[in-house]
Amino acid sequence: MIDAPRWRSYLQTVNRAGGVEYRMEDIRDYTIEQNWSEYSADEHAIWRFLLDRQQRLLVGRACRDYLDGLAGLGVAAAGIPDFRRLSELLDRATGWRIAPVPGIVPDALFFTLLARRRFPSTCFIRRRDQLDYLAEPDVFHDICGHVPMLMNPVFADYMQAYGEGGLKALRLGHLKELARLYWYTVEFGLIGTPEGLRIYGSGIVSSAGESVYCLDEPAPHRLHFDLRRVMRTSYHIDRYQQTYFVINDFAELFAATRPDFAPLYHEIGVLPEIAADAVLPGERPWEPKKEGRA
Ligand code: PHE
Ligand code: FE
Repeated sequence: MIDAPRWRSYLQTVNRAGGVEYRMEDIRDYTIEQNWSEYSADEHAIWRFLLDRQQRLLVGRACRDYLDGLAGLGVAAAGIPDFRRLSELLDRATGWRIAPVPGIVPDALFFTLLARRRFPSTCFIRRRDQLDYLAEPDVFHDICGHVPMLMNPVFADYMQAYGEGGLKALRLGHLKELARLYWYTVEFGLIGTPEGLRIYGSGIVSSAGESVYCLDEPAPHRLHFDLRRVMRTSYHIDRYQQTYFVINDFAELFAATRPDFAPLYHEIGVLPEIAADAVLPGERPWEPKKEGRA
């Protein structure tokens, strides 16, 4: 958790960093009220259905950090949570808060919010005919998918650093490369644990179909995470992933992404893009680390 003086000086740094950030006044124009008391009984029931289903599916599939984070959000069990209560909980854990937004927000605003440890969340919940799939994020994806990981201190810092990196990528004109990193880690990341392969990506944990598919189906490639490789790989937003990248732990992911990306953008900006389903010569599928002697 960040103490208040550090937080204030941090905000001042963000404000001075360059031209693309939003100021607090602009952020207020884009954020909305959740109007929690207006949700219908059926909307809360849809939430409970989705949460029950995922809680059953994700045992032994989601990573420990995700499951611990979800358990720490007890308020979410009864129905769509009130963001004000959720923010208090999250703030106490890692200094993050929820910023209610009407839908997809402009990139610069999205990054500005993340850089300030504000997670933009939609408020609406999918309809009953969309329980298995919907194209845009809803409150179930945004909250149940993302917030448990934000309870983890290392991941919480990673997300803030990503926001700062996003503002920089916008200035440098390399958002495409950086967005792939978000896609293949925050949204669709897998992690190798001593117990086996586990899920941490929010796009997966909020999808009943993909939480099974990504681990059990032989079709998708599962490759070791490699920053340059990921940043060159395209993706499809409207189907299960053809390739997943596997990290060993969050500290390692954060260490790999900490260096200045500016030289990296120049280096990979001229290289060809890699198709979402491609495997390059020499690439081998992810395998669990062998215990004991080789
Ligand atoms: N190191 C990245 C940069 O210099 C920022 C970043 C950190 C991006 C963590 C993603 C995750 O742009
Ligand atoms: Fe998401």
